[in-house]
Amino acid sequence: MNKDMHLIRAVEMAAIAAYKYIGSKDKNAVDLAAVEALQIMLNSAPMRTTVVIGEGELDQAPMLYVGQKLGNKSVKETFDLAVDPVEGTYPAAYNIAGSIACLAAAKPGTILPLPEMYMEKLFVNQDLADVIDLSKGLDWNIKQMQKEKSYRDLIAIVLDKPRNETAINLLRKSGVIVRLIGDGDVLAAIDVVNREADFVYGIGGAPEGLLMAALAISCSGNMESRLLAYDEIWPNEPETQTRMTIETKALAKYHLHYNQSLTSNDLIKDKEVRFIATGLTAGGSLKPIKYQHGIYNLNSFFSSHGIYRNMQVTYSIEQIKKLRPEIKTVIDNYQRDYHKQK
Ligand code: FBP
Repeated sequence: MNKDMHLIRAVEMAAIAAYKYIGSKDKNAVDLAAVEALQIMLNSAPMRTTVVIGEGELDQAPMLYVGQKLGNKSVKETFDLAVDPVEGTYPAAYNIAGSIACLAAAKPGTILPLPEMYMEKLFVNQDLADVIDLSKGLDWNIKQMQKEKSYRDLIAIVLDKPRNETAINLLRKSGVIVRLIGDGDVLAAIDVVNREADFVYGIGGAPEGLLMAALAISCSGNMESRLLAYDEIWPNEPETQTRMTIETKALAKYHLHYNQSLTSNDLIKDKEVRFIATGLTAGGSLKPIKYQHGIYNLNSFFSSHGIYRNMQVTYSIEQIKKLRPEIKTVIDNYQRDYHKQK
């Protein structure tokens, strides 16, 4: 089995594990299941990978922490990874549209380590890849994109958060149709690649931005971004000072600074980066995972080298349990079984 297939299977098993807790209202349980499954699968794959963007630093995250090495120690370094075992933990826990399992894999040393912080992002597919320039402001970009497409009513996907309110008003005033989402801007970017919308704009998470950059490069799209300080978004929260101290330290460690502009190629210096996602509660162009009578039906997305695939995948529990010990472990730990549910 080739390396891509191992990566795809790892993401799919993370989604299968998380599925047990979909609708449980327990964000931690959903996340933990996917994290553990992804770690088990990557550790058993015949390659050597390093987590660059993961669940946090070792002191906050025992699994898939930044710097963690996974897989076979005796083979040479294969990939650096950006992982988000559940992107959209809230929609997954409440079984509403918006969550996926995903990862990006690039050549060792090519993924820019980023702190957990906010990022302004503009993501487009191949159609508008050469048109955007975030440094010129949203208004300028809207006009350029409308000119390029020869119509005003472009479709934008925006995280529905107070911090994006001004942008939402400007988009509407400019004739852009706005699709609001509560969570999950990586999934929104997949919808743009699948041409359900024209662009994603707004302030969201920086680690998610890295995954969107991987998607942009691997699909010949583009993403431009800017790092933002926590106190710009949340000036008066009780945790603001502590968050600012942590952020400032992390930025210094990675030789980055506030307001730094980063293109997709600054974030990942590998044209051959791969991006993989599997729908959890999903929505849009990626359908949600379904389970019935021992069969999981999944929808996965894989992109590299400017080619992307939307795949329908079926896993029969009885068959896959016999396939490899690591799959059996994940299924035994996380198979949906209402008699055994904790
Ligand atoms: P989680 O997977 O950590 O729940 O993040 C989901 C998400 O909606 C991302 O898609 C988005 O980039 C980020 O959160 C926005 O951050 P915030 O929750 O602070 O609005």
